[in-house]
Amino acid sequence: MKFQSLIFILVVLFASVATNQAIALSNSSPVNINDPHVIEIANFAITEYNKKSTEAKLKFEKVINGLSSTINDETNYRLTLAANNGSSSNNYGAVVLEKSSKNYTLRFFALIHT
Ligand SMILES: *[C@@H]1O[C@H](CO)[C@@H](O)[C@H](O)[C@H]1NC(C)=O
Ligand SMILES: *[C@@H]1O[C@H](CO)[C@@H](O)[C@H](O)[C@H]1NC(C)=O
Repeated sequence: MKFQSLIFILVVLFASVATNQAIALSNSSPVNINDPHVIEIANFAITEYNKKSTEAKLKFEKVINGLSSTINDETNYRLTLAANNGSSSNNYGAVVLEKSSKNYTLRFFALIHT
C-alpha cells in the first residue's frame, strides 16, 4: 500500500470518527476504477466540492483507487481521485454516501498532500 493511501485512510478514519459515523472497514471491497457508476460518483464528488467551495474549479481526470462498503442499503465510497485545479493535477480523497440509487451525499473531500 502506498504511503499516501495510508494517510488518506487515516484521514478518512478520523473524519468518520469526528462525524460519529461508523464505517465498517471489515465490510469494504475495492471498487473497479473503470466502472461507470464509480466514475459518476467521482464526478459527483468534484461537482459538489466545486459548488461548496468559492475558489475551487476542479476538473475530474480519473479514479485512482477506492473502497466501497454497504451497510443497511447505504453504500459508502471512499475514493482517491485525480483532478486538475487549473494549474496542476492533484490527488484528492473523497467519501460519498449513496443512499438509494443515484442519491449521493458528499461526506468528505480533501487534497492529498504528496
Ligand atoms: C493547484 O494545485 C497546486 C498544487 O497543490 C497549487 O500549488 C496551486 O496553487 C493550485 N492552483 C489553484 C488555482 O488552486
Ligand atoms: C435523497 O435523500 C434525501 C435525504 O436523505 C431525501 O430527502 C431525498 O428525498 C432523496 N431523493 C431521492 C430521489 O431518493
